[in-house]
Amino acid sequence: MNIPLVDLKANYYSIKKEIDDAIQNVLNSSSFIMGPFVKQFEENFVRFCHVKHGIGCANGTAALHLALLAAGIKKGDEILTVPNTFIATTECISYVGGKIKFVDVVPQTALIDIEALEKVITRKTKALIVVDLYGQMPDMQRIREIAVDHDVFLIEDAAQAHAAEWNGHQPGFYGDIACFSFFPAKNLGCYGDGGAVITNYDELAEKLRLLVNHGRMTKYEHTIEGYNYRLDALQAAILDVKLNHLPRWTDLRRDHARFYDRNLPSAIGRILEAKGAKHVYYMYVIRVQQRDTLMAYLKQQGIESGIHYPLPLHLQPAYASLGLRKGQFPVSEQLAQEIVSIPIYPELTEEQRQFIVDHVKKYQRQ
Ligand SMILES: Cc1ncc(COP(=O)(O)O)c(C=O)c1O
Repeated sequence: MNIPLVDLKANYYSIKKEIDDAIQNVLNSSSFIMGPFVKQFEENFVRFCHVKHGIGCANGTAALHLALLAAGIKKGDEILTVPNTFIATTECISYVGGKIKFVDVVPQTALIDIEALEKVITRKTKALIVVDLYGQMPDMQRIREIAVDHDVFLIEDAAQAHAAEWNGHQPGFYGDIACFSFFPAKNLGCYGDGGAVITNYDELAEKLRLLVNHGRMTKYEHTIEGYNYRLDALQAAILDVKLNHLPRWTDLRRDHARFYDRNLPSAIGRILEAKGAKHVYYMYVIRVQQRDTLMAYLKQQGIESGIHYPLPLHLQPAYASLGLRKGQFPVSEQLAQEIVSIPIYPELTEEQRQFIVDHVKKYQRQ
């Protein structure tokens, strides 16, 4: 058997006709930049997320950059986030001249440690970027209260968490702005780069709309200097088709997760779904001591696995100038040594997931 970590081909072929038609429509119209396809996707995405405003953009990194710009973050402002995330979460802080400050995570969910957050948040903190890692939101109700108490702008990095929920609410409900990536492998992914920012606040939406498209009010009337961070019409049309399938795909991911929960050996550690959370399993992550040997064994059986992420950001060469050391964020560091992501894409068959479980068990018995 050959089981990839993500099977984009299987996903495309499951909806080929709809996708091909949508692409042909855009080609026929020649409306490639902004226009009706982007507008339609934005409207449908907003409805799906139960928020007031949604603005498509070039990718998830641009979405985070736009969020910090709209928040009015300035040079030297302190921004809090976690070290166990993709570097885009912190790159955007540097783009606006902000100061990155890390807070560790809890081992059960690999999500922000809220008690630690309460200790490190100060009057100097201007924004907090919460990461919904692997497709799970932390206790956003508590985080919202903390952010409001400290007058801190709250951004949700929901790049991995389309359709996730905390207490029945999706990203965008608790945060001032939520940011999405539509990178092809994401739960809602396009066929190139794509992203979106969503918000319930009119004033923020207005700023985001200007920033995403050269600060323009009309074609050649620029209220501010902005960016060319627009979502492509072709990608928007693809996303609009895929959005209709997202609830079903999310159910399938969750069904695979329940299967793994029940059938993987109980001695194998794993990232858990917290009470109150609806985890959408961008990744299903297990924890093992001899991670490399397990991954090599799975590879021999034709099962691809991954590590998200092998080196926490505070230890990355890119952040050497921050002067942070090993041991400062022990939970993130420990997780980075042990985590393995196993296949959980919607098209995974019952036979494939059983094959994966059988081989994890076999490996354990060796
Ligand atoms: C947590 C997180 N934040 C931000 C991003 C950046 O998204 P993009 O690759 O679309 O720029 C990603 C995806 O790669 C991500 O996983």
